[in-house]
Amino acid sequence: MKRLWLVAGIGAVALILTVPLLGSRQAPGEAPEAEATQENLSQPIQFPHNTHAGQWLIDCQYCHFSAERSVDAGIPPVETCIGCHREGLIAGRTIPEEVVKVREHYNSGTPIPWRRIYKVSDHVHFPHMRHVAAGVTCQSCHGEVQEMGVLTEMAPQAGNLKMGWCVSCHVERGASRDCTVCHY
Ligand code: HEC
Ligand code: HEC
Ligand code: HEC
Ligand code: HEC
Ligand code: HEC
Repeated sequence: MKRLWLVAGIGAVALILTVPLLGSRQAPGEAPEAEATQENLSQPIQFPHNTHAGQWLIDCQYCHFSAERSVDAGIPPVETCIGCHREGLIAGRTIPEEVVKVREHYNSGTPIPWRRIYKVSDHVHFPHMRHVAAGVTCQSCHGEVQEMGVLTEMAPQAGNLKMGWCVSCHVERGASRDCTVCHY
């Protein structure tokens, strides 16, 4: 319950910051780069990370809220989006048709079928919470997500999620190299 209030609170703060500015043509900071190109049509909705996490400074873990306490960072359900994008709230100034899709998913109760980008092999165990607890930033593995538009592919920082990538950072930071911590 407490957590829900906290989350609602953050949403409200973001909205208070947002609403008065939505009428103006020019956004604070840089203009949003949420353009729908042929390439990024691979996601069902053109969700711009730079607008949310860069321009509006919404914390990564506001949406990926299980990263600090579970194996998976988690993809937010449409309920998280609708807190800001429900009818009468933020409609979007550059690609409003994408916000309409968010509302349609919410109204019909169908989850948004996001395409997964980062995925380790089934025999590999990757715990987000251990990395977050050790102070490894999201960006050191996923790149500068707050500057990216629609995500389509892995950032070069992710070393294609090969074993050598994991192990070389573990060596660098003195983390375990025991086969059994990463393999079932
Ligand atoms: C307003 C909600 C929201 C915020 C804030 C947000 N994200 Fe996301 N993120 C999403 C959604 C929705 C997806 C799924 C669609 C996609 O891949 O773009 C996603 C996908 C991702 C993915 C790809 C997951 C995969 O493998 O498919 C990564 C990595 C990611 N986010 C990292 C971040 C980081 C790092 C931040 C902070 C700098 C951040 N996100 C902020 C909503 C958010
Ligand atoms: C805390 C509030 C908040 C949450 C939560 C949120 N958004 Fe947004 N979203 C915004 C703001 C603010 C904008 C910028 C609106 C503008 O510039 O017109 C935006 C813009 C967008 C845009 C681009 C609209 C445009 O015309 O540029 C899309 C698409 C979008 N959001 C989808 C989503 C999805 C999908 C989710 C859930 C994963 C989500 N949003 C969650 C606040 C939020
Ligand atoms: C040490 C590298 C590393 C760090 C740090 C890291 N990630 Fe990941 N992330 C990964 C890997 C590897 C995967 C694929 C995991 C899998 O397939 O189980 C992944 C997957 C994801 C996904 C896909 C969906 C899911 O539920 O896992 C999202 C979203 C994501 N990361 C967001 C984040 C965010 C937000 C942060 C910071 C709070 C973060 N990651 C920190 C390496 C990292
Ligand atoms: C950028 C650096 C970095 C990368 C890349 C990275 N890790 Fe880690 N990993 C760490 C750190 C730091 C810890 C925390 C060690 C601790 O808690 O003492 C850790 C801890 C772990 C643990 C828990 C270890 C234990 O002792 O129980 C596992 C499992 C793990 N990582 C798996 C992976 C896998 C699998 C990958 C690649 C897909 C990966 N890591 C990539 C830095 C990294
Ligand atoms: C820090 C995490 C980590 C540690 C420690 C680790 N591995 Fe891996 N291993 C991985 C990842 C990630 C992959 C998946 C690579 C891929 O899918 O391309 C992998 C893949 C493999 C594979 C499949 C072949 C391949 O290259 O994809 C074998 C076999 C393997 N590891 C054996 C071991 C052995 C033996 C040890 C101990 C000496 C070990 N691993 C330690 C993360 C780790």
